[in-house]
Amino acid sequence: MAKDFDTMEDSNRSANPSIHDVSAGERRTVLRGGLGLVLGGWLAPLSLSGCATVPPPRIGFAPVPLSTQDTVVVPEGYTAQVIAPWGDPVGIAGHLPAFRADAGNTADEQAVQMGMHHDGLHYFALDGAHRGLLAMNHEYIDDGLLHTDGTAAWSAEKVRKGQAAHGVSVIEVARDGDGWQVVRPSRYARRISTLTPVGVGGPAAGHPLLRTAADPSGMRVLGTLNNCASGITPWGTYLTGEENFIIYFEGPEKPDAHGTRWGLKRRGAGMRWAEHDERFDAARHPNEPNRFGWIVEIDPMDPTSTPIKRTALGRAAHEGATVAVTRDGRAVVYSGEDAQFEYIYKFVSRDRIAPGGAAANRTLLDHGTLHVARFDADGRGRWLPLVHGEGPLTAAAGFADQGEVLVKTRQAADLLGATKMDRPEWIAVDAARGEVYCSLTNNSRRGTDDAPGTDAANPRARNTMGQVIRWKEDGDSDGITFTWNHFVLAGPAEAGGTVSGDAFVCPDGLWIDPRGVLWIQTDASSTGSGLGHNMMLAADTVTGEMRRFLTGPAGCEVTGVTCAPDLRTMFVNIQHPGESPTSSRNDPAEPARHSRWPDGGRPRSATVVVRRRDGGVIGT
Ligand code: FEO
Ligand code: CA
Ligand code: CA
Repeated sequence: MAKDFDTMEDSNRSANPSIHDVSAGERRTVLRGGLGLVLGGWLAPLSLSGCATVPPPRIGFAPVPLSTQDTVVVPEGYTAQVIAPWGDPVGIAGHLPAFRADAGNTADEQAVQMGMHHDGLHYFALDGAHRGLLAMNHEYIDDGLLHTDGTAAWSAEKVRKGQAAHGVSVIEVARDGDGWQVVRPSRYARRISTLTPVGVGGPAAGHPLLRTAADPSGMRVLGTLNNCASGITPWGTYLTGEENFIIYFEGPEKPDAHGTRWGLKRRGAGMRWAEHDERFDAARHPNEPNRFGWIVEIDPMDPTSTPIKRTALGRAAHEGATVAVTRDGRAVVYSGEDAQFEYIYKFVSRDRIAPGGAAANRTLLDHGTLHVARFDADGRGRWLPLVHGEGPLTAAAGFADQGEVLVKTRQAADLLGATKMDRPEWIAVDAARGEVYCSLTNNSRRGTDDAPGTDAANPRARNTMGQVIRWKEDGDSDGITFTWNHFVLAGPAEAGGTVSGDAFVCPDGLWIDPRGVLWIQTDASSTGSGLGHNMMLAADTVTGEMRRFLTGPAGCEVTGVTCAPDLRTMFVNIQHPGESPTSSRNDPAEPARHSRWPDGGRPRSATVVVRRRDGGVIGT
């Protein structure tokens, strides 16, 4: 998401204890020379695992150049096909309203059409690499494009249409010769939006802090919001993160400490939902924001299933969630919180994954232990448990029970002295190598004014270019200590960058494909890059080589990538073509709308199907 909302980014500027403040007993021995080594020698593209048994993945395409073209560019020998743009019907039988190019569709029509601002996605096979479901997020909206007359004559219908354009789509797609088509109608087709009933699971379910006038049970929330990155579980479900949820809420003039820590404030000219939907007036309904900021689990194979907010995974401006599995079969869920100076989390399930798919694992993510990461200067790190009654997380400190620890995950992580990161975005797991990668997209406030200064993991002041950090757990995925280094500092060498190969800045989307190739997607929307349009690169995690694979249309962000099981079809999402730092939510006719992608009219987020003309494996 392009960040033009500063409140999510600076609510955690006070300094946690640095490594120097940590007790000597907790501090790890400085094994190899401390900061200089972390930033220097370990920048070499060593495998953290030093594992020689996994052959290095091969990247075999000719890179594409930087682009200022208003189109998707892929390597020679590849094709790019657009499917499922915003506003196309998802395929619910009897509800197939065509997209109106003047954005004249009603809220009810939008509720059965593709949402806006496509983001994370995953392919769930129905018939191998020939037919499957795409589940995908719709992160946010642009009211200037969503309505024929933009934000003029603001109305309840416009609020409702905006809510209907958020959330998640499930569509059926099938291969048709060398191309792919959306199957309509499909019994799987579904829209989950801010208007869809969603359940709550885990320790905060039913908690007093989740109860509202409309839902005294605290168990049933209307909808999901700002769904950013995606993840999947080994039992076949889809995970979606609720990221910048707070921007939808109108706060009181003077929010309390809890509201302030989460960026709640009186916005006036913000999303303006509270003007027509009272629950978004947090001055009147102070618990409503507590019902957002969760990881939501969805069973895409069952269109009648109720999505569930999994509170055991913590509340945060969650980018997404990525699952690893311990050797004895427990689920480990990594999640970053994309806001300046926020944290990286890891949940370890109490129970083992049961055979039998989604039905057999309906409450697996409701029981377990959440941790937050501390990255120490010696290249070691520790997962700090967020458990009520342990350490500072007591009633005396304001945490009545585990539910309150989870609703106030940020405050709990503050007290534990976790490391304040440069906006943690996507997390990718390389199961074969036992390595975890996280993009830290940028943090222009690092080291400025009263904001926290640099540290080993976040080494650049006024960091406008970002980095990818990686770690390897000690023992198994549930290990409480780890070793870390930077895979790459983005940007040119003169700015401290360590990129080997094609230039990029502001890493955001990350995915490690089954061959072990790391795909990096960029979002320089808020900072500008000097490198043309946003892009996707393939990275060899052994050699460190970066090769630019795809560039997007003007003003877009490239975010979300998945493949069919044969790795011969790749699906990539293009978000917010035509957006500029000043255009969001403004007039559709303004000059800054410099994209007409994909079909010559108002710009529309869409999914791009990438294939090789010879039908070969993508990226080889
Ligand atoms: Fe939704 Fe952090 O990007
Ligand atoms: Ca981003
Ligand atoms: Ca993102």
